[in-house]
Amino acid sequence: MLDHLEAVLPDPILGIIAAHAADSNPRKIDLGIGVYRDEHGNTPILQCVLEAERILDSTQTSKSYLGPRGVPGFNSAMQELIFGSAGAVREHNRVRTVQTPGGTGALRVGADLIKAASPDARVWASDPTWANHNAIFTAAGLTLESYPYFDRQNSSLRYDDMMSTLQERGPGDVVLFHACCHNPCGVSPEPGQWETIADIAAERGFLPMVDVAYQGFERGIEEDALAVRLFAEKCPELIVASSCSKNFAVYRERVGAISVVCANDQKAADVETVIHSLTRKNYSMPPTHGTGIVDIILHSAELRALWLDEVTAMRERINGLRQELVERIVAAGIEQDFSFLQRQTGMFSFLGLSVEQVRRLREQYSIYTVDSARVNIASFNDSNIDYFIESLKAVL
Ligand SMILES: Cc1ncc(COP(=O)(O)O)c(C=O)c1O
Repeated sequence: MLDHLEAVLPDPILGIIAAHAADSNPRKIDLGIGVYRDEHGNTPILQCVLEAERILDSTQTSKSYLGPRGVPGFNSAMQELIFGSAGAVREHNRVRTVQTPGGTGALRVGADLIKAASPDARVWASDPTWANHNAIFTAAGLTLESYPYFDRQNSSLRYDDMMSTLQERGPGDVVLFHACCHNPCGVSPEPGQWETIADIAAERGFLPMVDVAYQGFERGIEEDALAVRLFAEKCPELIVASSCSKNFAVYRERVGAISVVCANDQKAADVETVIHSLTRKNYSMPPTHGTGIVDIILHSAELRALWLDEVTAMRERINGLRQELVERIVAAGIEQDFSFLQRQTGMFSFLGLSVEQVRRLREQYSIYTVDSARVNIASFNDSNIDYFIESLKAVL
């Protein structure tokens, strides 16, 4: 039976990682990878995570099953982080949060939930969006359509075009948003624009779904939850898929959560049972090592404060690099305008290079990124930034 299966092409990003690893050029740079890097090019374990893991190890007495909800303290702490301590949906018990294996797991559970609720629902995602969105929703049997989002000419948001498409959506449509630090383009709506988007969602009656994969990497933990909180305030229903992979740097631990806001407490309780039935036949129960760590951090005043400092340091490093890149590009006499890098946020931006320029960077200069020229800004550091700018100047 398995004989009928053909090999599936790997994600292009994996090819880039492999080619970079095999390159013997000591000046090689990997700009494609999607993880935070510090000034030494490492993705370290956060100090707060190391300390919480020690506590977990010394206090955990069993690895027995915890049940479909996983670590209860994690679910409530994540809910507070996303919706705020004073959120009305929490006060009225209209939201349920269940941990999932990473943000990807949350998106898949959300997609399965949509399919169960409305098999013909149409899901709308930004053009472009994270490549895995398409795969996840399609795997759940849904069709993904796109709304205008990124203006490649001006490296900015196509706000009016996006709004025209959203104005035509209604009940039966789900619209997926990135809460902050849009992957891959780095462009987000302004706070006032989010307000209008949430008003349109309430007015038109489509279901907003928010992917929160970089909370704390754009403006701050509270600030980056703005979109979620506006939708929660204005709309009767909302789905939120959160990931702790980046902001707690626990990538391989697979820590995420799905939160669902319903019209009332009873409906939210009912929907939680649907979530448990969906996960039961998929992975049965969530992994709890990483969620246990995050639970300890969020419930300890000291570790929480340390975590906030560490998130701030990551955010400020990325923003500092954005500014430095723009300044050094200008200083190098490059005429092409890259000032958009400073207006964008999070780890990712498109450099606006042609496929041919990306290939020359790769083949002649050992600088690796995907053909779309999406780069991870956190890949730059003092020892590679000058070489990158020289190489960029040469291919332009
Ligand atoms: C936009 C977006 N959503 C979700 C995820 C999923 O993260 P994870 O499953 O690793 O928690 C990512 C990871 O890169 C992402 O960029």
